[in-house]
Amino acid sequence: MEKAKKILKDIMDVTLSEPKSEVLTEMTRTVKLIVEEYLKNPNIVSYLAKISVHDYSTQLHLINVMLYCMGYAYYNDMGKNNIKLYGLIGLMHDIGKVGIPDYILQAPRKLTENEFNIIMEHPKNGWKILHDCDFDVRVRITALEHHERLDGSGYPDGKSGNNLCETSRMLAIIDVFEALTTWRPYKEPLKPFSALQVIKQDVLAKKLDPKIFRKFAYSIVGITSPEFNKTLF
Ligand SMILES: [Fe+2]
Repeated sequence: MEKAKKILKDIMDVTLSEPKSEVLTEMTRTVKLIVEEYLKNPNIVSYLAKISVHDYSTQLHLINVMLYCMGYAYYNDMGKNNIKLYGLIGLMHDIGKVGIPDYILQAPRKLTENEFNIIMEHPKNGWKILHDCDFDVRVRITALEHHERLDGSGYPDGKSGNNLCETSRMLAIIDVFEALTTWRPYKEPLKPFSALQVIKQDVLAKKLDPKIFRKFAYSIVGITSPEFNKTLF
């Protein structure tokens, strides 16, 4: 875990300071290193590389989400293989965005209905890419379901409740947490605890899974106090 963090910190530094071609090389090397035993098809690296070139914020989002997923597995004692698998799930969940035009992905404004319809295609597009590359079924399913919600209000299929697998429920929470805590040109980031409080509203609204929310919160804040529990749960 520490090694992965160090590698990813180095990548982030390179990403922030070097031209895109350098970033691409470094990103590809890292992806190979972290997911090598799952890397059955090298085409997937080229998909990640395309995202790296076209959409800087999605690239950072994938790396951040990968780390949170690995942290979730690590702090919940899920074992080495699951840490790798969950990292892979995080890294690949938005791979379907590779076909979406830049002007939509990077729009610093509310999307039009038509643009949002295009965005909503990325879970199915991602599932197809990962299926064609023969990825583990949990990686594929999570890419497909990470925008679904327990109450059926998500997309692309409006699935609900027990029809959603555990990794999809986890990714739904981590995806939102990363978006809330990351700087964007049009918004300031929230502090982790504030982001968890925002997410709690969707837990209370029965859109997100309370048990997984609790597990994720522990993985973010570590050992907690009674005061923490009272405020957050
Ligand atoms: Fe997504």
